[in-house]
Amino acid sequence: MPELSSSGAKISIVGMAKTFTAGDARIAAIDDLTLDVAAGSVVAVTGSSGSGKSTLLHLIGAIERADAGTIVIDGVDVTALRRGKLTAYRRGIGFVFQRYHLLPALTALDNVIAPVLPYRVRYNRTARARELLDAVGLAGRERSLPSQMSGGQQQRVAIARALMGEPKLLLADEPTGNLDSTNGAHVLDLLLDLRDQRGMTILLATHEQHVAARCDRLIRLTDGRLVEDLDLTDGEDPQATFERATRLR
Ligand SMILES: Nc1ncnc2c1ncn2[C@@H]1O[C@H](COP(=O)(O)OP(=O)(O)OP(=O)(O)O)[C@@H](O)[C@H]1O
Ligand SMILES: [Mg+2]
Repeated sequence: MPELSSSGAKISIVGMAKTFTAGDARIAAIDDLTLDVAAGSVVAVTGSSGSGKSTLLHLIGAIERADAGTIVIDGVDVTALRRGKLTAYRRGIGFVFQRYHLLPALTALDNVIAPVLPYRVRYNRTARARELLDAVGLAGRERSLPSQMSGGQQQRVAIARALMGEPKLLLADEPTGNLDSTNGAHVLDLLLDLRDQRGMTILLATHEQHVAARCDRLIRLTDGRLVEDLDLTDGEDPQATFERATRLR
């Protein structure tokens, strides 16, 4: 395994807002959202379709810019970063997308290496990519093309790719959304193991209750607002806490 990062990122969001304009309509995708996330926790971001889950991840990852509010990651205000520093910040974040976003013409190994190819790095790219493919259970599949792999395997390649930059924060947008329950469970096991081993902070958007139930904490968005915040590590059985809370709504 590659060297472990010392700890995950701490997130502190205050009064964040993002509005999209579609024709004449203005959509408040994120509406005055305030949220603190402890380093090394795994947070399920839930809510119905269009509630703002992806937008929240994009704003934290600086793929989109917030209209208002501050996003402080380990003491650095991301909303104040410009150009070079913003690029460096983005490189320090791991992204896992719902549809893997692998490059079809590249092998698994080259897909993992691709994001760091333009940069000078202090490690051997190929050796590190091999180690990461091994860590996600894909040793021996380095030369496979995405089309030769199952959905779960492709998602594991995408996770290995997200880990190339040694992220302290992993943003995963429905990482199990396209997988059957067995493959989905494997991918979730993998993410939880990575947190245990590397202390990464993970935000995981999901609409699947059984996925959310295995996280440390669950937040729920409605129309871009935070409407529920549950500590699933509190109390006897996370599944019971989760079901009780779901029934209460
Ligand atoms: N680029 C955009 N332009 C216009 N509207 C957008 C854009 N991106 C998101 N939206 C709108 O913002 C709202 C939140 O979208 P978002 O993608 O964050 O929802 P979501 O919770 O991730 O939904 P899903 O579960 O379907 O992935 C939606 O109403 C969506 O239509
Ligand atoms: Mg989404």
